[in-house]
Amino acid sequence: MGVQLAQMLREGTKKSHTMAENTGFVACFLKGTVEKNSYRKLVSSLYFVYSAMEEAIEEHRNHSLVGKFYYPQLFRKSSLERDLSYYFGPNWRNEIEMSPAATAYVDRIRRLSQQNPTMLIAHFYTRYLGDLSGGQILKNIAVKAMGLNDGQGVAFYAFDAIPDEKVFKNEYRETMNQLPIDQATAQAIVDEANDAFRKNMDLFKELEGNLILAIGKLLFNSLVGRQSKAAQGQPISAE
Ligand code: HEM
Repeated sequence: MGVQLAQMLREGTKKSHTMAENTGFVACFLKGTVEKNSYRKLVSSLYFVYSAMEEAIEEHRNHSLVGKFYYPQLFRKSSLERDLSYYFGPNWRNEIEMSPAATAYVDRIRRLSQQNPTMLIAHFYTRYLGDLSGGQILKNIAVKAMGLNDGQGVAFYAFDAIPDEKVFKNEYRETMNQLPIDQATAQAIVDEANDAFRKNMDLFKELEGNLILAIGKLLFNSLVGRQSKAAQGQPISAE
């Protein structure tokens, strides 16, 4: 029997999960305050991160350990492309840029891909199991807060090729637990997953400035008695 990597990851990243949920951007998001300009920046960052991650998955398709996590039904790159073209328009490729936190995240994935591919498993876990877990809640919040229609702008949350997310998550956990790795390697994967959570928090922190500005404008407008866009049922925007 292999080590119980799935349980180790779940237990070993619990604190990081709570910290991520408590970053200003995520806490505001969960309360329904989603600022479109910040949100589309996050989608841009995620696009760079998933592109790097999925490139690494393809590259290590035949790797004895990493290759077991070749699940194209999880791939998010093309759904993020659809969302970017919704938020930025057809010229989105020229509109988005890689932020400092996204650059650090992508650099880490690329370095691991070259030097220590087994550690990529921590990155797949952190993003994909998270997406499969909180996705529906986040999608509903995004749709409501930004007044999105017809599922536009939320392709990222839809896993069309995964009929039952719970079943799939259990299969993924089983794959993790079947890995022929020792305890020390498993612990290194947990440590890397905590670093991946930190990298995600850095993406969120980068967006706080925009969000605070937008909330400040809303507050200002309400203090001086102007009707805010949000009060009219419009998404708020810092622009
Ligand atoms: C926006 C706030 C968030 C909410 C509401 C949320 C919600 C959830 C929920 C409901 C679960 C399922 C727990 C279970 O299976 O019992 C979960 C698991 C998970 N979340 Fe989150 N989450 C959030 C943020 C994040 C972030 C920012 C990340 C990392 C980027 C993340 C990564 C994960 C992972 C890896 C799991 C799987 C845990 C495991 O079973 O091993 N989550 N989340």
